[in-house]
Amino acid sequence: MSDIDQLNASLLAEIAAANDEAALEAVRVSALGKKGSVSELLKTLGAMTPEERQTKGAAINTLKNAVTEALAARKTTLRQEAINARLKAETVDVSLPVRSSPAERGRIHPISQIVDEITAIFADMGFSIAEGPDIETDYYNFTALNFPEGHPAREMHDTFFFHPDENGERKVLRTHTSPVQVRTMETQKPPIRIIIPGKTYRQDSDATHSPMFHQVEGLVVDKKANVANIRWVLEEFCKTFFEVDSVTMRFRPSFFPFTEPSFEVDIQCDRSGPIVKFGEGSDWMEILGCGMVHPNVLRYGGLDPDEYQGFAWGMGLDRIAMLKYGMPDLRDFFNADVRWMTHYGFRPLDMPTLFGGLSA
Ligand code: DAH
Repeated sequence: MSDIDQLNASLLAEIAAANDEAALEAVRVSALGKKGSVSELLKTLGAMTPEERQTKGAAINTLKNAVTEALAARKTTLRQEAINARLKAETVDVSLPVRSSPAERGRIHPISQIVDEITAIFADMGFSIAEGPDIETDYYNFTALNFPEGHPAREMHDTFFFHPDENGERKVLRTHTSPVQVRTMETQKPPIRIIIPGKTYRQDSDATHSPMFHQVEGLVVDKKANVANIRWVLEEFCKTFFEVDSVTMRFRPSFFPFTEPSFEVDIQCDRSGPIVKFGEGSDWMEILGCGMVHPNVLRYGGLDPDEYQGFAWGMGLDRIAMLKYGMPDLRDFFNADVRWMTHYGFRPLDMPTLFGGLSA
């Protein structure tokens, strides 16, 4: 066998043995690269006699073509094999159950759910939502709500005070959502119908109290707002919120600096079983405070008390969430435990609406 035939045979064997594209490329470089075995042979053509070129030259060219073709064919085969291997390894089992999306797996916190429910109820009665800052001035949290300077009612609130700033002003973490009443009166003309859901803060912590808790405030200011209106609004609210046909409410005289007269409102319930039932039973449970907006508060809000009157109420959200959904310990609300959320949380795509059902 001639040298050329031998080289041909060994190169074709190497090509056939190359198991991946990198190995095949190494064979190509060793044969057809600048210093490759075939390239070196091609360089000898120039020094050949015409006779030699006809025989040996033709053989070298045939060798070159054979090697080039074999390389191309092997490359195609290797590509196909690689694709087949991937297809085999990456098969998809279309019969597997579909993995649920984050929108289906995530849960809405009961407090957010309660706020959405309350918003749906009051939006239906023509109320809109108002908000204010958690870090509040002493003025809006107390003074503008008719708490006199040095009045003991200021201390009743177990307030978190900030250090005084450079102007000597001592801010507070708002102790209730009531400051947003005056903030709203300052910027909106009556008739005003708003609810104010939000975070509130007091120095208190046990199974039913958390230093950060939630309230929803309501405020109506108009020319003829009166106590009968409060009763109706709150009764309608309680029926819809607790999802019962009727509720019995009891208004007890009370005191708040920002309302006159002031009431505490109890709702009739049955506490004999493991969960509290509303609209029946022989027990009473306090659920909110309310009253007619004090003329001084209207004045602080820039409104003339001879022209306008208003009513307001304030309700703790955490406790009624615990009651409505049977959650025993308030502290769990704020522990960020995924297992608790999976159990007590709500599906994000089930938005509470009056027509679709609040908590259904
Ligand atoms: N701000 C009161 C509190 O946190 C609750 C309250 C009572 C709000 C009577 C009102 C109201 O708007 O009229 O204890």
